[in-house]
Amino acid sequence: MSKVRKAVIPAAGFGTRFLPATKAMPKEMLPVVDKPTIQYIVEEAIASGIEEILIITGKNKRAIEDHFDHSVELELELEKKGKTELLELVNSISDMVDIHYIRQKEAKGLGHAIYCAKTFVGDEPFAVLLGDDIVYTEDTPCLKQMINCYDDYETSVLGVQTVKQEDVSKYGIVDGKQLADNVYSVNGLVEKPAMEEAPSNVAILGRYIINPAIFDILKDTEPGKGGEIQLTDALKELALQEDMVAYDFEGKRYDVGDKLGFLEATVETALRRDDLREDFLTYLEKIVEKETVQNIK
Ligand code: UTP
Repeated sequence: MSKVRKAVIPAAGFGTRFLPATKAMPKEMLPVVDKPTIQYIVEEAIASGIEEILIITGKNKRAIEDHFDHSVELELELEKKGKTELLELVNSISDMVDIHYIRQKEAKGLGHAIYCAKTFVGDEPFAVLLGDDIVYTEDTPCLKQMINCYDDYETSVLGVQTVKQEDVSKYGIVDGKQLADNVYSVNGLVEKPAMEEAPSNVAILGRYIINPAIFDILKDTEPGKGGEIQLTDALKELALQEDMVAYDFEGKRYDVGDKLGFLEATVETALRRDDLREDFLTYLEKIVEKETVQNIK
């Protein structure tokens, strides 16, 4: 059985929901407290055992590449000032893992972005983590949970959670049958269906493990919803050719590319940080007189 060693992080979308911040900077660089979104995702991939990462970048790719590269001037400056902890922090980012980059010349959709990873992936199963979806977990990272599921079923795995019925039109929705506690078999998929047409409320949420057979399908996938080449359409075709499962992962997922999702991620991440929790909670309690804030740990 092949091991899942490679991960692809698409980060070439326009991020129109977050304009003007995303005019000259990819949304994947939006900081959640003090770390860019994409670094949380790279860290999740590494903690899940991924050895090589390909980031699909768009026209504003510099910031992402620079972030994961050495910054000689900054390192010298920190060294001169004796700021050893910060120096270690900055160095650790560039030493994290082997990161490759490829440019998607035109943002033709997520399916097209993944097709750009064909040569990097070769003939092995690979993980996809969307560059703007953070999943917070207390124990096992989200991708690791999915790799465990892949090891059990030896076939493509979609990361899913149930969403509110009125939200189904924001996601790729699974038509499936429950196989085990957290696992469904995938019979069909629909990209962003209208509420009354959705086969379920089981939604794909930014994490995938995909067999390389997807590339032959993506090659001929026509633009779908929104005029974009949709990964969901290609996965639907793959599910006709071979078994596919959906795994209901444990964890809190944030859509950082959405304004409200970004705010939730920021507030809850700050509340989980020992260095910020107390002061931030005092501040929040002052402005929001509701007990719910107390329950975020
Ligand atoms: P989204 O649909 O969330 O990204 O794609 P978007 O199109 O940038 O968002 P809005 O709606 O305009 O705000 C999910 C992921 O796929 C990447 C995005 O960067 C994001 O990480 N993506 C999307 C690409 O890499 N290329 C594309 O052509 C489209």
